[in-house]
Amino acid sequence: MFHTKLDDFPENFLWGAASAAYQIEGGWKEDGKGSSIWDTFSKIPGKTYKGTNGNVAVDHYHRYKEDVKLMADMGLRAYRFSVAWSRILPNGSGEINDKGLQFYENLIDELRKYNIEPVLTLYHWDIPQALQDAYQGWESRQAIDDFNEYARVLFKRFKNKVKYWVTFNEQNVFTALGYRWEAHPPNIANVKKMFEANHIINLANAKAIQSFRELVPNGRIGPSFGYGPIYPFDSNPNHVLAALNGEEFQNHWWMDVYIHGKYPKVIWKQLERLGVTPTIESGDMELLQSVKPDFLGVNYYHGGTVRANKIEFPLKDEEQQLDKDFEATDPYLMEPKEEQAQSPEVPMFTNVSNPYLEKTDWGWEIDPIGMRIALRRLQSRYDLPMMITENGLGAFDELTENREIEDQYRIDYLREHLVEIQKAITDGVDVIGYCAWSFTDLLSWLNGYRKRYGFVYIDRDDENEKSLERIPKKSYYWYKNIIKTNGKSL
Ligand code: NOJ
Repeated sequence: MFHTKLDDFPENFLWGAASAAYQIEGGWKEDGKGSSIWDTFSKIPGKTYKGTNGNVAVDHYHRYKEDVKLMADMGLRAYRFSVAWSRILPNGSGEINDKGLQFYENLIDELRKYNIEPVLTLYHWDIPQALQDAYQGWESRQAIDDFNEYARVLFKRFKNKVKYWVTFNEQNVFTALGYRWEAHPPNIANVKKMFEANHIINLANAKAIQSFRELVPNGRIGPSFGYGPIYPFDSNPNHVLAALNGEEFQNHWWMDVYIHGKYPKVIWKQLERLGVTPTIESGDMELLQSVKPDFLGVNYYHGGTVRANKIEFPLKDEEQQLDKDFEATDPYLMEPKEEQAQSPEVPMFTNVSNPYLEKTDWGWEIDPIGMRIALRRLQSRYDLPMMITENGLGAFDELTENREIEDQYRIDYLREHLVEIQKAITDGVDVIGYCAWSFTDLLSWLNGYRKRYGFVYIDRDDENEKSLERIPKKSYYWYKNIIKTNGKSL
């Protein structure tokens, strides 16, 4: 620490909370909505915990007024939500479903009635099933035009009502889980396809931003990236080099494209050796370089710790456990599965657990200082305003006999992260807002409803919808006070 007194949060700081369409809305077939790849995938036996899906979710589609009222009572200044593409264009392109647009217009109007700034995410992982069926979704360049068509419909309709827009949510996560780890739809394990689809999504991102400049000249747009700083296991220069590799591979591979329109050279060369670089057609790099986001959305949960590859630098006996802990728990693992590493080269880095960090109920490392490190690194490299578009704690919450939730652990978690954000602001980082994940409890993609993140408890479990009653948790009242004091009560 090199300062003793912290700066205040900026006066117009966007104290917010976030959600995503598939995780909260329900109404999966209502009012003309088409299916998304998640509607289909979640119904394949064995894919999600106890077969949970978003058919009803927390029924936000019907209860949005009640939810927004709870936001208003909390004093929320921003609410980040996503639009389900298949509500707007049930077939992915072509016919527009006005009832779908009307739902989001009603939601936005309701938010604005209470002076809550809407932050609209265009894509939170739910490409229409029709496009997956027609041409394998993000594997085809046709998706660039179809995404642009969808984005333009929303830009035109909401340009006077929505200022902040997010293009893609955690492109790094959904491409890895969908095309490499067979965990999310389209349920593929093919590194080459992952990099191809990823490049196509980069182009879709750039093209949509071009449209945005034309249609929403006064708006602000950027991607939300799942960023985690990568640490070396210790100061052995071999591990420091591995951490540099990890940082470039897991973060800059995406972010350099968003901001500078180019792929980092070191990673490109490594992928060339592996034979998995994406196909670059003429005009691609020009398109990527023609746009720049206005802000960076940062989803921060945790970073990663790496060491030099295990082949040349075997783990010492006492370090073996760290490795096991890691493999058992981390869903963001990026190291190639052995059978997929088609190259005789050794991996650029090996992921291990960080011995200094505690873990959540769900095995995710808890690292508030990593938030400050993340913001500092991103400010230095990209120099753009940043909005924390997600950060939060997934936990098992228990209703007490008085039907209350005593989630002091969530308060501690959020407070520690916010203090680090305040330190980053004091360091000189430009942070414009913080959207905690999540406002209400919601469906965790693979983990059903028992992994809870919300300020507001929802009375439902994996098997039963129950009453779907909304019950503000202790953290709800705590955050309300933080907002009221603009962070002075942290
Ligand atoms: C990031 C994703 O954007 C969100 O949808 C998810 O629920 C959270 N991580 C927690 O896993």
